[in-house]
Amino acid sequence: MRLVGETEPMSHNRNPFGAKGWTPDRIGSLAGDTFVITGANSGVGFEATRALLAKGAKVVMLNRSAEKSATAIAELKKEFSVDAPVSFVRMDLAVLESVREAAAEILEQVPSVAALICNAAISQTPTRKLTVDGFESQIGVNHMGHFLLCGLLYDRIETSGGRIVMVGSIAYKMGKRKIHFDDLNFDEDYSPWDAYNQSKLAQMMFGYELQRRVVAAGKDVVVQVCHPGASRTNLISGDVSALSKVLVRLIKPFFQSAERGSWPEVLCATEAGVKSTTLYGPTKRADTAGPVGECALADHALDVEAAARLWEVSANKTGLAWSP
Ligand SMILES: NC(=O)c1ccc[n+]([C@@H]2O[C@H](COP(=O)([O-])OP(=O)(O)OC[C@H]3O[C@@H](n4cnc5c(N)ncnc54)[C@H](OP(=O)(O)O)[C@@H]3O)[C@@H](O)[C@H]2O)c1
Repeated sequence: MRLVGETEPMSHNRNPFGAKGWTPDRIGSLAGDTFVITGANSGVGFEATRALLAKGAKVVMLNRSAEKSATAIAELKKEFSVDAPVSFVRMDLAVLESVREAAAEILEQVPSVAALICNAAISQTPTRKLTVDGFESQIGVNHMGHFLLCGLLYDRIETSGGRIVMVGSIAYKMGKRKIHFDDLNFDEDYSPWDAYNQSKLAQMMFGYELQRRVVAAGKDVVVQVCHPGASRTNLISGDVSALSKVLVRLIKPFFQSAERGSWPEVLCATEAGVKSTTLYGPTKRADTAGPVGECALADHALDVEAAARLWEVSANKTGLAWSP
């Protein structure tokens, strides 16, 4: 396995943002900036939207449910003002055609993208399901849909001098710690955890590969990878097994708030001087909570051969051959 960057860097050294870690207090005015975020009607995506609106940004949510989006927007307008610049474009990451339509709509509506935040995800789908495009549902929604979206919006983000933020998970270092290239869809031995872990690892590998490609091409796009720790959200509450529901209900009270869970992605979308080959997230209790800073990054997320192969497979399967 060929690797780049540091090995298991110093998660628990001094926090570069001070003892309290990164907080949204560090953000200046975002007036004039437009952020595009997937899966923002609930959880950390909703809280990230709140944080960005609070600093004067415009936010376009890419959500799959019109009804939930209307509720979320109404809540935000109630908090900020009826004129708060938050809107929604329908996009279902489980359907590549829907991603293409949503990207076309964004290109039409948003002349300059300050950051695309790839936040939406599903987790723990109890039995193996395939998306309409034939992907196991978690790799389909979490990775393939976002890979295509990033490719379709990349040129706009580049001309905007914008950013791409990949929201991963510490699940990337659980279980088998690899992309199952020989059985990407888990035709054999499906397990909800293995499929989720693979999908979050894929998102992170893609993020670091994109970082390397942007640098190699000498382009002006910041790409960052983060995770929200363990946060109280709707993840693992819908289409999951009864056992997962019970377990999550028992441990959820110990999770941090969704608001705190949103800070790593807001950091990655706004903070100056962010670093490559770095995983931003909470840094205490095994990186599940606490001050936001730089977390340990396990070597397998930086496997350049696997990342190059994943890129090729993703481009083939989504039908979009793209690169910075
Ligand atoms: N919460 C945690 O402890 C935790 C831990 C590690 C990583 N994460 C990551 O944090 C991110 C945000 O998750 P969350 O915890 O805030 O969960 P959440 O409350 O369930 O939010 C997930 C969002 O993704 C959307 N989504 C799901 N499937 C979609 C699809 N096919 N197309 C478009 N949008 C879709 C959901 O829409 P609907 O409301 O319509 O379902 C929702 O808006 C995810 O990337 C997740 O993997 C969370």
